[in-house]
Amino acid sequence: MTIDEMRRTLQRRLKKNRFAHSIGVANTAVKLAKCFGVDETKAYVAGLLHDCARQYENDELPAQALVRGIKIGEVERAIPLLLHAYIGAKMIKEIYGVDDAQIAQAIYRHTVGAPDMTPLDKIIYFADMIEPNRNYPGVEKLRALAETAELDEILLTALSESIIFVVQKNSLIHPDTVAARNYLLLNR
Ligand SMILES: [Fe+2]
Ligand SMILES: [Fe+2]
Repeated sequence: MTIDEMRRTLQRRLKKNRFAHSIGVANTAVKLAKCFGVDETKAYVAGLLHDCARQYENDELPAQALVRGIKIGEVERAIPLLLHAYIGAKMIKEIYGVDDAQIAQAIYRHTVGAPDMTPLDKIIYFADMIEPNRNYPGVEKLRALAETAELDEILLTALSESIIFVVQKNSLIHPDTVAARNYLLLNR
């Protein structure tokens, strides 16, 4: 599939806002890729398709995970929305013909993170938080960081903000987010 065909297929499958968000993440990811020496095409495709599994409603996600052999942990059982990252990592090949382990990994890790993230993983994680359609308290601070900071410092701040956000909501912290943040602090 060409990138143009991917865009059109995604547009048919996602709601309008989710598609606009996906384009925002793709464009933001390319900007970050230029800054940090990451493959721009991979950044665009990973950004474009990172939420492709959001075509499914929350109550459909567990079944979609199970048919693909994805293990559902206790946090994912409580928050099925998290499964869209793991399902999306498989759907890029099934639906969009993207057979690229680096892109798949970046999509897999875009919601909760992971220890030892690659520059592409980090860029997609961060682009998802700061793309132009995002609007929440503190987003400007994060956007400004992209202009000045190193990629690991950006990711550390992003992970910390994510943890603060879920704690304030009294929600669960995914263990991979803690592991991702600890990894950065321990390997500085
Ligand atoms: Fe997502
Ligand atoms: Fe997203």
